[in-house]
Amino acid sequence: MKENIALIGFMGTGKTSIGRRLADKMTRYFIDVDDLIEKQIGKPISKIFKEGELKFRTLEREKIKSLRNKKNCVISCGGGIILDKENMEILQQISIIILLEASKETILKHTISDGKEKRPLLNKEDPLNEIENMLRIRKSLYDKFASFRIIIDHKSIDEIVNEIIGILGN
Ligand code: S3P
Repeated sequence: MKENIALIGFMGTGKTSIGRRLADKMTRYFIDVDDLIEKQIGKPISKIFKEGELKFRTLEREKIKSLRNKKNCVISCGGGIILDKENMEILQQISIIILLEASKETILKHTISDGKEKRPLLNKEDPLNEIENMLRIRKSLYDKFASFRIIIDHKSIDEIVNEIIGILGN
């Protein structure tokens, strides 16, 4: 089995909360890539985006590179991680990649309840429309890199975590 488990998926698919619980249950370390970036820079994602998406993507790429030697971790990735080929080459080398999927309605509900600090890309007049557009563009990339996929709609965190553990046979 590869050394780590990486969770990918669109914003609001529960990568952080599911990842944290999964790490707990599997006695692994938990890493949240967005958290690492915020801690390094000392600003929330929304503020970093104000300096341009490129700045954020550069930091994101640096963080993924810094994970190369990690072992026994659950890595929760930002939704846009799949946009960069090099990010995904590294993640594929060091982890089993699990895609979390949700309907656009679930995504909207979660991203609204999480607040605006983390999702500047959805800070639009019609976020549901934005979610649809972004999903259309990203779907093939999420599919391409996923070793396993889990639909999270109407499931509890524990149900999802158990499903993942079942898939991994651990
Ligand atoms: C992004 C997703 C966010 C965060 C940033 C960009 C994206 O992470 O990295 O706002 O491009 O999909 P979550 O998927 O954890 O919300």
